[in-house]
Formats: sequence, structure tokens, C-alpha cells
Amino acid sequence: MKKVLIAGATGYLGKYVVKEFKKREYWVRALVRNPDKLSETGPFLEPKIDTFVDDVWIGDVTKPETLSGLCEDIDIVFSSVGLTRPGERVTFMDVDYKGNRNILFEAIKSSTDKFIFISVYRARDFTFIEGIKAKEMFVDELISSGLKYTIIRPTGFFSDMTQFLDMALKGRVYLIGDGENRMNPIHGADLAKVCVDSVDQDVEEVSVGGPEILKYIDIARLAFNIIGEKPKIMRVPKKLVELSTIPLKIFSRNYYTLIKFFVTAMTNDFIAPCRGKHRLKDYYKELLRMRGIKV
Ligand SMILES: NC(=O)c1ccc[n+]([C@@H]2O[C@H](COP(=O)([O-])OP(=O)(O)OC[C@H]3O[C@@H](n4cnc5c(N)ncnc54)[C@H](OP(=O)(O)O)[C@@H]3O)[C@@H](O)[C@H]2O)c1
Repeated sequence: MKKVLIAGATGYLGKYVVKEFKKREYWVRALVRNPDKLSETGPFLEPKIDTFVDDVWIGDVTKPETLSGLCEDIDIVFSSVGLTRPGERVTFMDVDYKGNRNILFEAIKSSTDKFIFISVYRARDFTFIEGIKAKEMFVDELISSGLKYTIIRPTGFFSDMTQFLDMALKGRVYLIGDGENRMNPIHGADLAKVCVDSVDQDVEEVSVGGPEILKYIDIARLAFNIIGEKPKIMRVPKKLVELSTIPLKIFSRNYYTLIKFFVTAMTNDFIAPCRGKHRLKDYYKELLRMRGIKV
């Protein structure tokens, strides 16, 4: 039986990846900070996974002393570790770059067969954003590590599309720019399949998005349509958002970086090769059902 280490196992994508590896009969070690999260369904419908995990390793990627021996006897390392909540005291460089590098050191020490890492679609075009730069600095180290690797480059996740539904529920959706840019968001379960498929593929990079190509304005309309309300959409000029967030650069760099990421995402096309079968409409309906809201 092959053994996999999953770092980021308590996150949106990580939970689906744990489930998919288990389905394919792997022995699964999960690196977590808080084991309680394994037995909880996540806020974006990601499944509870406590019964799919064979070994729980409690550690923090920014503290290398908690990772010593993490990859012993492990065949495959998967990492979707990244900073996604601006409130954390650490920086993108601490987590996305140095944290993943700490896992890589352990993988090299234990001569792991392969390292699978989650970056972002078109990341090389957007390294002026600190969080993306940090990921790509790690990618460079992974490439020169001598280990076999696959870098997965997804577009936006369904979890991130939830914010449009939440805005619609509050009465108005705000879009940055004219809303005409397009992307193909992907469900965690569809992306997890792509990640696990890559184990046996001799491919170094995989760009991937979901099956539907949508304009942001269409996503906003869809959100209103699902809740049965007339669309109220406000387009905010990109320049206005950029100017108004300048103070954040000084007071909260992590917030500033995440907003910059959203501005970039909404004002560029992000259309990667289409995979999977989950549709955003069904995700929104299921999410509302889970929250007890009638649709
Ligand atoms: N969301 C999108 O649209 C999108 C698109 C393309 C790429 N990505 C990238 O894909 C990756 C996964 O995204 P996601 O939505 O699954 O993120 P997520 O739900 O926030 O999951 C991130 C995972 O990393 C873990 N983590 C963070 N800091 C850690 C630390 N210091 N030590 C150990 N574990 C740590 C988190 O643990 P805790 O549960 O303890 O916090 C969580 O398990 C991220 O790198 C993200 O930037 C996201």
C-alpha cells in the first residue's frame, strides 16, 4: 500500500484530496494544526475526513522542529498549504514559501518519490503580488530539488465563489471592473481528482479549471437567480479599489495582498483547460440547503 502525506488536510481542497487518496486505497497521513477540524464539515461543504486519515501529524509548517521525520516511509507528498486568511500573524513568505520549503526539506531527507504542490493558474504573470511570488519562489526550489514533482495550477475554487452568493444574500453584489472578464471556477472534488491523477502521470505542470466558463457578471446574476431576487450589481472601478486600499499596504500587508489578488482575478481572464463535472449553480443550491435557506 502506497503512503501519502497531505499537508493542508484541514483546508477546502485538502479535505477533498484526503478523500480521493483514500478512495484510491492509499495510507494517509494528514499534517494538521488543529485535529478537531478533521471531523467537521467545512463552511464550503468540504467533507469531514477523520475516518479517511490513518495517521494525524500535528505540526506547523512555520516551525520546522514540529516537522522532523514527517515524511519517513512516505511515497507521495501533497501540499496545498497556503495563507488564505489575512488575520494570521505570519506572512505569505513565512507560509507559502518558507513553510512549504520546510516540508520539502523533510521530503528530500526521506527520499520521497514525488511532491505535488498547489500554486495558481497564470502565476508567473502575477508575481508582483506577494502571495503569488511566495508560491513561485517555492516552485523554483521544488524544481531544483531533484525530486519528481507536479505543480498544479488551478483557477478559482468554488469556495471563493461563495462570496458572490453571500453578497447577493445581503442585497447587492460588488464587482471590480466591468464584470466582463471570464474564468472557469473548479469544485474541490473535481480538482482533487486531477491532483491524485497526477501521481502516476509523468507531467511537471497541470493547468486546470472547471467545466463552465463564466463572466463575473454572470456569476453575480446566477447568485441572485438562485435566491430568487432581482439582480442588484454595482461595478466598482479598478482604480478606485486600488487607491482606496493603499493605506492597507502599511497597516495590513496580508489584507492588501489578498485584495490585490482579487482585483487581479476579476480584471483578467483566467480560463484554464476544463475538467470535472460540478456546476456552480448546484454548489450554490447545496450551500443554501446546508445553511437552512429555502431555494
Ligand atoms: N481559493 C482559490 O480560489 C484558490 C485558487 C488557486 C489556488 N489556491 C491555492 O490553493 C491552496 C489551497 O487553498 P484552500 O482554499 O484549500 O485553502 P485553505 O482552505 O485555507 O487551506 C489551507 C490549508 O493550509 C493549512 N495551513 C496554513 N498555514 C499553516 C501552517 N502554518 N502550518 C500548517 N498548515 C497550515 C491550513 O490549516 P488550518 O486549517 O489549520 O488553517 C489549511 O489546512 C492555497 O495555497 C491557495 O492559495 C486557491
